[in-house]
Amino acid sequence: MGVCKSALPKKNSDAFQREGQAPPLRYDYIRKMENSTMYFDSHAHLCDEKFDSDREAVIARMRDAGVTGMMEVGCDRASSLSAVRLAERYGWCWAAVGTHPDSAPEVTPALLEEYRALCQNPRVRAIGEIGLDYHYPDNPPREIQQAAFRRQMALAQELGMPVIVHDRDAHGDCLEIVSEFPQVRGVFHCFSGSLETAQELVRRGWYIGFTGVVTFKNARKAVEVAEWTPLSRILIETDCPYMAPEPHRGQRNDPSLVPLMAKKIAELKGIEEEQVAKATWENARKLYRLP
Ligand code: NI
Repeated sequence: MGVCKSALPKKNSDAFQREGQAPPLRYDYIRKMENSTMYFDSHAHLCDEKFDSDREAVIARMRDAGVTGMMEVGCDRASSLSAVRLAERYGWCWAAVGTHPDSAPEVTPALLEEYRALCQNPRVRAIGEIGLDYHYPDNPPREIQQAAFRRQMALAQELGMPVIVHDRDAHGDCLEIVSEFPQVRGVFHCFSGSLETAQELVRRGWYIGFTGVVTFKNARKAVEVAEWTPLSRILIETDCPYMAPEPHRGQRNDPSLVPLMAKKIAELKGIEEEQVAKATWENARKLYRLP
C-alpha cells in the first residue's frame, strides 16, 4: 500500500551513519533462539525517524518476541544508505536498497550506479522497495514512476537480485512491468491486489507479503488471498512504523508485532502458528538467499 508516502522521513535518521567502524556481526543470537519459535520480519523501516528516540528498546523488544531476522527496506537514497548501515551493525538484519515510486524522480543513472555499488555489499540482499503507486493524485506522473520501476528491475535482472515490489492501485501495470523481466523474482509486499493477481504471481514463482492489514476486521480481500496462497509462497512483514496489526491498529508498528501476522495466517489456514513462523522464515531465507 502507499504507506511510504507518509513513511518517507523528512530528514532521514542518521543514527547509523554517525557510527564509526561497524562492530563484528553477531549470529550467536540466532543460534541461541533455535529452540523457540522464530519469526522473520520481511519488510521493516527501523531507520525511520519515528524510532530515533527508542530504537535500542524496540530492538530489545523484538528479540524478546522471537523475531530473529529482519529485512530493512530503503525507500530512497538516504533510507537505502541507512538500511545498509543497520545491516552492517546487526547480524540479524539485512538490507534492501531502492527507490519507492513516491520518490521516482530521484532515480537517475548516477543513483542507479550507487545502488549497483551498494549491491556488492554482502549485507544487501534485495532491490526495493520499487514499484508503482497511483493512489494519490499528487504522486509523481505515471510515466516517471514506470521508468524508475523499469530501470530498477533492469538492475535487479542484471545483478541477479530479488526485488521487493510496492504496488498500490496499479496492479495491472505492475504485473505488466515485472513480466518484462522474466528472470527476476521477488515479493509483492503488503499485497492489496485481487486473488487472480496473487494466483498469477504465485504461478510465476513470486512471493506474497502480508502486513497487519490481514488482521483488520474489514480485510476481506487480504484474508481471501491469504487463505488461498500456499504457505511456501507467503512472507510476513510489519512495514513498520505503519500498518500495525489488530489490536494495535493506528499505533506505531514495530517488528515485535510480526508474530500477530503469523498467528492470523495460522488461524485462517487452521494450522499451528509455529508452522507459519517456520515456513515464512524459510521463505525469506530462500528469497533473500540468507545464510
Ligand atoms: Ni515499506
